[in-house]
Amino acid sequence: MGKLDGKVAVITGATTGMALAGAKLFVDEGAHVFITGRRQDMLDEAVKQIGRNVTGVQGDAADLDDLDRLYDTVKREKGSLDVLWASAGGGAPAPLGEITEAQFDTWFGLNARGTLFTVQKALPLFNDGGSILMTGSNASLGAFPGWSVYAGSKAVQQAWARIWLNELKDRRIRVNVLTPGQVATAKQEELFDEATKRQFESLIPRGQMGRPDEIATAALFLASDDSSYVNGMELVADGGTTAI
Ligand SMILES: NC(=O)c1ccc[n+]([C@@H]2O[C@H](COP(=O)([O-])OP(=O)(O)OC[C@H]3O[C@@H](n4cnc5c(N)ncnc54)[C@H](OP(=O)(O)O)[C@@H]3O)[C@@H](O)[C@H]2O)c1
Repeated sequence: MGKLDGKVAVITGATTGMALAGAKLFVDEGAHVFITGRRQDMLDEAVKQIGRNVTGVQGDAADLDDLDRLYDTVKREKGSLDVLWASAGGGAPAPLGEITEAQFDTWFGLNARGTLFTVQKALPLFNDGGSILMTGSNASLGAFPGWSVYAGSKAVQQAWARIWLNELKDRRIRVNVLTPGQVATAKQEELFDEATKRQFESLIPRGQMGRPDEIATAALFLASDDSSYVNGMELVADGGTTAI
């Protein structure tokens, strides 16, 4: 028996990295998963890799019309929803003094505004007893120079999880934040050279970045009834980086 047997899940930004690893695991545990991403070719490839019980819906998590199209598809194909993992997000470094309006609008537009509407627009489809998780970042717990816009745009999730679980308690919908530290993903490859990656790894107690599958198992915990008494919490999966 799978931990998500018969459940319907939406995972945004899931054509690579930790959310793709999560989508595979959710399907292995019995769910039907809707995944999103902006690039159609990457989406097609991810759907092929997952192989079964998956629907790909192209779209930008910062675009409210795309979110409407996503939930229209879920409604048409499955009628309702049990798990939402709002994972689409991103950022780029910019030290205070050099932050542009465009950078602020882009990253708050996706990580804060996009996440809020990803959750809000899912609500009409949510079954009672469902689980919502959002991908934060340990950037909002540490004090990493250059990352204030990104950290700020993710830090909102902690407050939202607490308020939303209170607003949704009659429907027994739980809301938690999954907060990774450095994880070896395509985004890491794009953003950082080898020296920067080694510098980040020097901050991690085990000296090695997280793997996407290590975030996927934490997401499964929050998505499933294994975490039935966990609500409004931040699960930090950063190997202890911000604990020491
Ligand atoms: N990697 C890390 O070390 C790390 C650490 C802490 C937190 N995080 C957070 O974890 C999440 C995933 O990070 P990642 O490193 O795996 O990211 P990623 O490699 O940049 O992207 C993962 C997926 O998200 C999709 N995506 C990106 N922007 C999107 C958008 N606006 N709308 C819909 N899909 C979008 C990408 O496809 P398309 O580009 O085709 O859209 C891709 O499928 C993000 O919220 C990130 O902030 C990452």
